[in-house]
Amino acid sequence: MAEAGLTQGGFGATARRDAWWLEMLPTIILIGGFSIYATARAFEGAHYLAGSYLSPFYSPLIDPDHKWWPLSPAVLILGFPLGFRVTCYYYRKAVYRSFLADPPACAVGEFWGKSYIGETRFPFILQNLHRYFLYGALVFLVFLWHDVWKALWFDDGFGIGLGTVIMAVNTSLLTLYAFSCHSLRHIIGGRLDCFGCAKAGLAQHKAWSLASLLNVNHMWFAWCSLVSVGATDFYIRLVATGAIKDLRIL
Ligand code: FES
Repeated sequence: MAEAGLTQGGFGATARRDAWWLEMLPTIILIGGFSIYATARAFEGAHYLAGSYLSPFYSPLIDPDHKWWPLSPAVLILGFPLGFRVTCYYYRKAVYRSFLADPPACAVGEFWGKSYIGETRFPFILQNLHRYFLYGALVFLVFLWHDVWKALWFDDGFGIGLGTVIMAVNTSLLTLYAFSCHSLRHIIGGRLDCFGCAKAGLAQHKAWSLASLLNVNHMWFAWCSLVSVGATDFYIRLVATGAIKDLRIL
């Protein structure tokens, strides 16, 4: 019996590790690919403006000439959205599992190391800064929606181009991503033990309920918005370099 148990345990461990690779490979490819692309674009410092379209990597537009700053203006900006994503509860789980395998999953033994210390020590304890990055992300959303508004205006007046639509979809996904944040859900009501006892308890309960509805899909908003940010920048870069012409819809 003991032998059979050991054999089954060994097979189970191998199967779990195979399943881990299958599950985590897309995460590694997507996060790794996005990190390489975003870093390259952030340091490129060019082709981020195409008419009234502005790449989300370069929003808010600091100074197109930026002679006073030797590096790309995106370097001044990207710390906030990057910090927001890196400290996101969902990405933390995905990164710990896929890149570090520490832990590889719930209730599964670690690949290496004997004791799991969670996020109690440096540098992981810095993940607690997430709520402050959230405040910054909410400010960035105002800039991004302003960019969408500006993308409705062309040399000949009001209009809609494919770029306008892409920017609007991207900013909508980013808004859903931010508004489904676990930290935001906590701040706007989740921290309360009793809604009926709190000031404006009914309003807080409504806000918390809405955030909870969005929160169920936080993982999907995280992935879709990651892809859409990269795709929006890529489209604007293509138009800015003259590789393609923007399609005018209206
Ligand atoms: S938990 Fe993912 S953005 Fe806050």
